[in-house]
Amino acid sequence: MDLRINSFDDYKRVYDYSVAEPENFWGSVADTFYWQKKWDKVLDWNFTEPNVKWFIGGKLNITENCLDRHLEKNADKTAMIWEPNDPEEHYRSFSYKELHFKVVQFANALKNNGAKKGDRICIYMPMVPELAIAVLACARIGAIHSVVFGGFSAQSIADRINDAQCNLVITADGGFRGSKDIPLKNIIDDAIVQCRSVNRIIVLTRTRTPVSMIKGRDVWWEDEIKKVETQGNPDCPAEPMDSEDPLFILYTSGSTGKPKGVVHTCGGYMVYTGYTFKTVFQYQPGEVHFCTADIGWITGHSYIVYGPLSQGATTLMFEGVPTWPDAGRFWDIVDKYKVNILYTAPTAIRSLMSFGEEPLQGKHLSSLTKLGSVGEPINEEAWHWYNEKIGKGKCPIVDTWWQTENSGILISPIAGITPTKPGYATLPLPGVQPCLVDEAGAELIGNGVSGNLCIKFPWPGIIRTTYGDHERCRLTYFSTYKNMYFTGDGCLRDEDGYYRITGRVDDVINVSGHRIGTAEVENAINMHADVVESAVVGYPHDIKGQGIYAYVILGTSTHDHDLTRRDILQTVARIIGAIAKPDKIQFVSGLPKTRSGKIMRRILRKIAEGDIANLGDTSTLLDPNVVEEIKQGAADL
Ligand code: WTA
Repeated sequence: MDLRINSFDDYKRVYDYSVAEPENFWGSVADTFYWQKKWDKVLDWNFTEPNVKWFIGGKLNITENCLDRHLEKNADKTAMIWEPNDPEEHYRSFSYKELHFKVVQFANALKNNGAKKGDRICIYMPMVPELAIAVLACARIGAIHSVVFGGFSAQSIADRINDAQCNLVITADGGFRGSKDIPLKNIIDDAIVQCRSVNRIIVLTRTRTPVSMIKGRDVWWEDEIKKVETQGNPDCPAEPMDSEDPLFILYTSGSTGKPKGVVHTCGGYMVYTGYTFKTVFQYQPGEVHFCTADIGWITGHSYIVYGPLSQGATTLMFEGVPTWPDAGRFWDIVDKYKVNILYTAPTAIRSLMSFGEEPLQGKHLSSLTKLGSVGEPINEEAWHWYNEKIGKGKCPIVDTWWQTENSGILISPIAGITPTKPGYATLPLPGVQPCLVDEAGAELIGNGVSGNLCIKFPWPGIIRTTYGDHERCRLTYFSTYKNMYFTGDGCLRDEDGYYRITGRVDDVINVSGHRIGTAEVENAINMHADVVESAVVGYPHDIKGQGIYAYVILGTSTHDHDLTRRDILQTVARIIGAIAKPDKIQFVSGLPKTRSGKIMRRILRKIAEGDIANLGDTSTLLDPNVVEEIKQGAADL
């Protein structure tokens, strides 16, 4: 069977084959990778425990696929380009040979510091090449990386380090983002007070911010590299990994409790991210791929590091933000490096749109051939602007839907092949079997239906477990509907069979493409000394997609309300990070609760949306009067 997709008919043929013979399909895809030992069996699965295993018995190391295997023919090809935050600073670029050298070198530094297969290593770094090098070096020696986004607070880091029992942390003195310096090592120092498992911190020099270096625990990245040089830069053979050995943990928010550690494994993750990168973007040798995400999120893991490198692509990594020093920054980068594929988030597009045409003056953008969108629904206005102003009407847009739990893209057009429709993620990729179900769990057959989005057959990149708590994985994703993976998203399938994601149906909100659990924000707000109770909902926000709206009941303190509001914001920034700060805080004397004490979030959502005419039935409330007061307060806010 020829699995190449050069036309829409090819797509349909390959898709049908992948559903009829999933094991043969994925076996053939996996054959395009380098395995130390071939698998004995392609797949074993059930969604009840759940227990999903791909490429059983296979041995591999993902870094041999991302680095070593390109050395024979493409050693001098550019693997990675890095654009610094400050456009005046010199860029850096690495050929496959150079990147291989750096990864092996740092892998040896990790080993010199006692790291070994199976250890959990926390990485809290700015978007510099050493972040990608650290990630790959962990994979090289079989250590499990847990990358924490540089915007999270000390408390969030401590929670993640403790959950995974990391023994080593890799960080930097600080990081540059736009006009800000972020004191990463100081934040790590605050976190580590609560973390007994950590015995070594490797610190890269970036900002030269003063940091405390504790004897016997903290070492400089540069010194550790020197030691490896004096050892004569020995090779670091890639650790043989079982297909189902964990590759990494990445924490993500759900509707309840603290963020959970999503676990992905070596074989399936490699095959899925490599295949989807090549297929969705129709990557052609020599093209420059620019994914604007941070490596602290799944998009960066899969489409800055692993996916592009496993396919021998040139990946571009950017340290800064789209609006600094001005709102033309992305376009300067595109022109500077002749970027072909641009993969960004709707929130960035909307934000850049709001600056008008001026930042586009003098930018050519003529190298672009394909555009991608990820992380949240893209509204039609943003889609058209992206298409016309950036793609000049000649670049297909791939609106890619997927999640941290999925490893890679599940529903998306294939660039230049699937006819697109603004706002639609269109059709499932080969090997992906989505379905829509109603509240009772019955599958909705046919087109022109909407319901909850589930996937009824495993794909190689599906979540294997939540670290240290398999039951939580089962409850969250596999217990709502029998024999299905539940995504948490609502979805419409139109008359053409095209999928349109309508947003989360649970208590997860998507702020600027970042996933935040309302329960997490409530817990953080409730930590404030004057707060009795709170309820957090999302509401439509012009730039961020969704904003955070908090209803807060205060105690008897006589503090000024405006000061208290600021203190609450500060508390949330301390407990979670600045990304979780509410956009609006409304003080209320009560919350709409049912007689059994459950908060009716539906009503709070409507009020936050400003849709007060349609509050629905409020007669079951314990005290319907609070609704009037909240409506009034919202209008005054
Ligand atoms: C949302 C990011 C609409 C969705 C890769 C999902 C999207 C959540 C899209 C996962 C899209 C992601 N259209 N919604 N193209 N892509 N989402 O884990 O609600 O950070 O469940 O993964 O983002 O967010 P996560």
